[in-house]
Amino acid sequence: MTSGNPTPPTSARHTPVLRDRCINLLAPAFEAARLAGRTPVVVDATLGMGGHSEAMLQRFDDLHLIGIDRDTEALDLAGARLSRFSSRTDLVHAVYDEIDAVLDDLGIPAIDGILMDLGVSSLQLDERERGFAYSFDAPLDMRMDTSRGQTAADIVNTYSEEELVRIIRKWGEEKFAGRIANHIVAARDKAPLTHTGELVEIIRNVVPAGAARTGGHPAKRTFQALRIEVNEELNVLERAVPAAVDALALHGRAVIMSYHSLEDKIVKAVFAAGSRSSAPAGFPVELEEHKATLRRLTKGTEIPTDEEIAENPRAASARLRAVEKVKVRSAA
Ligand SMILES: C[S@@+](CC[C@H](N)C(=O)[O-])C[C@H]1O[C@@H](n2cnc3c(N)ncnc32)[C@H](O)[C@@H]1O
Repeated sequence: MTSGNPTPPTSARHTPVLRDRCINLLAPAFEAARLAGRTPVVVDATLGMGGHSEAMLQRFDDLHLIGIDRDTEALDLAGARLSRFSSRTDLVHAVYDEIDAVLDDLGIPAIDGILMDLGVSSLQLDERERGFAYSFDAPLDMRMDTSRGQTAADIVNTYSEEELVRIIRKWGEEKFAGRIANHIVAARDKAPLTHTGELVEIIRNVVPAGAARTGGHPAKRTFQALRIEVNEELNVLERAVPAAVDALALHGRAVIMSYHSLEDKIVKAVFAAGSRSSAPAGFPVELEEHKATLRRLTKGTEIPTDEEIAENPRAASARLRAVEKVKVRSAA
């Protein structure tokens, strides 16, 4: 299953998704900071290989950037790529729901922009030994932060059959979850599963040929489910989006790109709640405390153009939403 092609260099294998649109959405927030006499500060909460960060630092020569990633390999690569901007950057190894603590440690009370380009990076998919890709045989790992936490092997070998059904169905939206979980348990009873290839083989044997022909790679949804479970992606995101919005200064902006409906649902809910008045139904006047704190900058979701998708197939599933902070809640 392992292809003989060498991994291309980082610079050649990475195009930031919706780069110019993200930056154009954030730019007015940086201008608002300047007008208020402050240096604009942006958080790139998913630094990855630093593609979006590099473009922002290049375009705004007064911008201070805080780059967060839970993957130390990504931080090293982005650090090298952004080294010429080191006086204007702080790169931090953290999970993005820790944004409050990161800003506290840096002594930054509020930020003007935050960018979140969710999910797995091209680097993580291309580094075969990390086990994110179903197309290469590799150890069943899938941790974005390889320094801690359970691996995909821990999950497939120790979760009960019911738990496996639940995560594959819920996080993978896989209709053959029951059969896949049943076959995983039968296989691990003979010997623990250690490699992605073994899992792909099990799934191939379980997903009916017709479904496999029409539904993309048969292992795609199970791999997505395991990756979400390993990295607790959706639980973390549920805490991170409100924390990101809270951290914004007045006129600060948040831009978030999701890659599947479960992520987008969380982003949409937080943005929608902030954009509504919280006045009880039938309340005669809208009190200041009930006014919406956010203004939506995108109508529904925005998607990349066909041209961008042709150039960067990973962009195909991107869904972008953005908001502006229009009211800062006074401290209780
Ligand atoms: C799609 S990539 C970002 C690519 C980046 N925009 C660029 O231009 O290079 C997503 C990155 O976010 C990181 N990441 C995902 N979930 C995270 C989390 N909960 N906390 C911190 N970083 C996370 C991943 O490790 C990965 O490097």
